[in-house]
Amino acid sequence: MHVIRRRDWEIPESQATPEHVYLSRRSLLSGAAAFAAGATLPLPAEAQRVADLPDPTADLYPVPRNEKYVLDRELTPERIATSYNNFYEFGFDKGIARAAQALPIRPWTVKLDGMVEKEQTVDIDDLIRKMPLEERLYRMRCVEAWSMAVPWSGFPMAKLVELAKPLSSAKYVRMETFLNPKVAPAQRLPLYPWPYVEGCTIAEAVNELSFMVTGIYGKPAPKQHGAPLRVVFPWKYGFKSIKSLVRVTFTDKRPVGLWEAAQGREYGFWANVNPKVPHPRWSQASEEDIGTGQRRPTLLFNGYGEFVADLYKDLENEKLFM
Ligand code: MTE
Repeated sequence: MHVIRRRDWEIPESQATPEHVYLSRRSLLSGAAAFAAGATLPLPAEAQRVADLPDPTADLYPVPRNEKYVLDRELTPERIATSYNNFYEFGFDKGIARAAQALPIRPWTVKLDGMVEKEQTVDIDDLIRKMPLEERLYRMRCVEAWSMAVPWSGFPMAKLVELAKPLSSAKYVRMETFLNPKVAPAQRLPLYPWPYVEGCTIAEAVNELSFMVTGIYGKPAPKQHGAPLRVVFPWKYGFKSIKSLVRVTFTDKRPVGLWEAAQGREYGFWANVNPKVPHPRWSQASEEDIGTGQRRPTLLFNGYGEFVADLYKDLENEKLFM
């Protein structure tokens, strides 16, 4: 029997999920077969075929480490980080790694559009091969009050902005995940405004910390971490770090992310980490390290203030920390 046991650091789902979503989800899922397969049954044949396809960029890894970004804690063991994921398209608990293998990630293109000199659709392998890949050790702090520290591989988001050539009138970047309800079971349920969307300002996008991730632990990223291309903003709550991108749009309108659209009282545009600003339903003062199980105090901007605090100097009237 597959028994799901909650680890000490996990917030009960009823707390970590927008309330209306949690309630409607319970009624929708009671008796629904969407996730009944759990993590133990074999994948259907087509999903298994997709899961077994080799990654055409595997020869590029490992990539050289950029030593500038140092950690104040141990790296999270690979087997823990790769089996404890948020990827709501594939299920609502942390054990979605197996289900995510059904996502076909080749062919894969990323559209760069909106307020740009010229719209482009780039092939993922061309993109990855032309970018300066490096490894960075970053902390990641989830809004649910858990954290990890992992070696991401990828390239600066500033390089993607450079490739897209936004017009000077563009102020924001809107990012969008794939929409494929055939393989992502939760996208068949009307609980969230799919596809997953997130956004940032152009100033944030070109900040040196903003990183386009293509790999982790010296290998191409597994699908549960957002292959073939995701973003990571290490000073923001993890929900801003959107996975499996298919579209990046430059715009003068502030994008509304999936969580903000679902529950704007709890999740906002900026979502910078701040231990002194609690989530409406729980404290953000400390976090549980999923690698060690230890609790540690949460740091302002997740400890990255020296890189990013200046971005927010003239924005005191904004809700910068939710
Ligand atoms: N991106 C998509 N498309 N769907 C998601 O559900 N979850 C977010 C973020 N990106 C999510 C997503 C949340 S809440 C977190 S904490 C991080 O991914 C988790 O990243 P990880 O699974 O690689 O640790």
